[in-house]
Amino acid sequence: MAFTLDTVVPWGRSMEEYVTMFELSENDLDSRILGCADGPASFNAEMKDLGRRVISIDPVYAFSAEQIREQIDRTYPTILQELRTNSGDYVWDRFSSPEHLGQLRMESMNRFLADFPRGHEDGRYVPGELPDLPFGNEAFDLALCSHFLFLYSEQLSAEFHFRAIAEMLRVAKEVRIFPLVALGGGPSPYLEALCGYLYECDRTAEVRTVDYEFQRGAHQMLSIW
Ligand SMILES: C[S@@+](CC[C@H](N)C(=O)[O-])C[C@H]1O[C@@H](n2cnc3c(N)ncnc32)[C@H](O)[C@@H]1O
Repeated sequence: MAFTLDTVVPWGRSMEEYVTMFELSENDLDSRILGCADGPASFNAEMKDLGRRVISIDPVYAFSAEQIREQIDRTYPTILQELRTNSGDYVWDRFSSPEHLGQLRMESMNRFLADFPRGHEDGRYVPGELPDLPFGNEAFDLALCSHFLFLYSEQLSAEFHFRAIAEMLRVAKEVRIFPLVALGGGPSPYLEALCGYLYECDRTAEVRTVDYEFQRGAHQMLSIW
């Protein structure tokens, strides 16, 4: 899948959501964290405000804050309309309505956009694409991937998933991925074969049910070490 800014539907989550989806403990938050496919999430910016350092990598960081802002503004009304049309596919407890969700997502993305120019200069936002990461072996304790792997199972092949996860395991001691379902809500067709492959590579993989469910059925996280 060739990457262009037009193919991105920017929709960034908050630090509180990352902490819940990935069950991040205080020790985890103090560790060296890489966020893969972080896009316009505010996790990195919020961690920075708390005196912690996260490195995020995403191809969208090759663009300027203005260009990303324009893409957010272009796609936002369509995303909101799709949420209204398909509202039965989601659990409305954490967010009370599509408008409430949209407001919170905008707050996260604005926080990201305000931090992006400085964070880019500081090397906290690195332009780059899975399955190749420009970091040394075990440069991180934890590599996270929210709403990219497994979710785009129709668009991204099994081979892409295997290579991307092997690469994340090269640069980090532990990898956590959320969610494990594809866009349609069904389980990703790659999960079972991937767990078999990891077992053969002497890796331990654990599927954990977490206290986060917005897309119906998306309440599990894969932890690999
Ligand atoms: C749905 S967004 C998720 C954003 C963020 N992780 C969150 O949960 O709020 C998916 C992200 O994947 C990024 N992406 C697309 N292709 C990628 C690749 N090959 N490697 C890493 N990230 C990629 C997009 O730019 C986009 O920011």
